[in-house]
Amino acid sequence: MTRHFLSLADWTGEELGGILDLAADLKNKQQQGEPHPLLAGKTLGMLFEKSSTRTRVSFEVGLTQLGGHAIFLSPRDTQIGRGEPIKDTARVLSRYVDAVMVRTFAQETVEELANWSTIPIINGLTDLLHPCQLMADLLTVKERFGKVEGLKAAWVGDGNNMANSWINAAAAFGFKLALACPGGYNPDEKILEDARNSGADILLTEDPREAVESADVVTTDVWASMGQEEEQAKREADFQGFMVDEGLMNLSAEHSIFMHCLPAHRGEEVSEGVLEGPHSVVWDQAENRLHAQKAILATLLT
Ligand code: CP
Ligand code: NVA
Repeated sequence: MTRHFLSLADWTGEELGGILDLAADLKNKQQQGEPHPLLAGKTLGMLFEKSSTRTRVSFEVGLTQLGGHAIFLSPRDTQIGRGEPIKDTARVLSRYVDAVMVRTFAQETVEELANWSTIPIINGLTDLLHPCQLMADLLTVKERFGKVEGLKAAWVGDGNNMANSWINAAAAFGFKLALACPGGYNPDEKILEDARNSGADILLTEDPREAVESADVVTTDVWASMGQEEEQAKREADFQGFMVDEGLMNLSAEHSIFMHCLPAHRGEEVSEGVLEGPHSVVWDQAENRLHAQKAILATLLT
């Protein structure tokens, strides 16, 4: 059966841990200049219905480093933008490429693509989830602390695709997660309920200080995600008090790290001082997209 990478919740903690180990190994090989052409001759299709810097470049470079090739597909210059059904696109792409990475709006779209494809589909961000980012984040956490299990992570901000993915990660890896979201901006109810039912230790509060207290990892994301641009002004008002600044970081553990999937809005969800400060690991985190995704691709395709 074809495996897809649509949500961390589709994979066991053990499987995801194996992908992280492979990512660390591939990172080491790349840094040593040791060739690792695990996907020689393979092609990835990359379908983007939203903007991207990191996801696009890291997948494309990743394929090159693995000996394969990636094709960038945008709705503007494919038939998708002119209404060709997803199920037709899925079957046609399945005849050409070895896997498809897709960034789009509805989670249902990536699920439909997967349902009609005979090749692995990778979720490169939907309104609901951003699983590839979380694999890079967890790789970064592991590099810093040597483990993920048993730590406390704090999410401050919108209950968006990143927050939902942190919830899935907490369930898979057994770390404590405290989310502080303003009223009306909670994460997905079903994802939270499923995670708690599987035993995850997750606190949901409206108080950023409570969430960040003694946390090993503090993380946030933009207040208005892609597709919510017209809500920017309302969100700026609703998220007052939710900026991760030096005062808030002071409540976290002394050795804590600050994470952000980027792009960041300085002076909104994070202060310049925190983003550029000694706790920040955001550039390592961005680099780790490359290594984590190479491991995801190698796991799906070999
Ligand atoms: N973090 C992330 O997915 O960045 P891009 O939108 O630049 O791909
Ligand atoms: N929550 C953000 C993440 C961007 C990588 C968005 O969806 O726009």
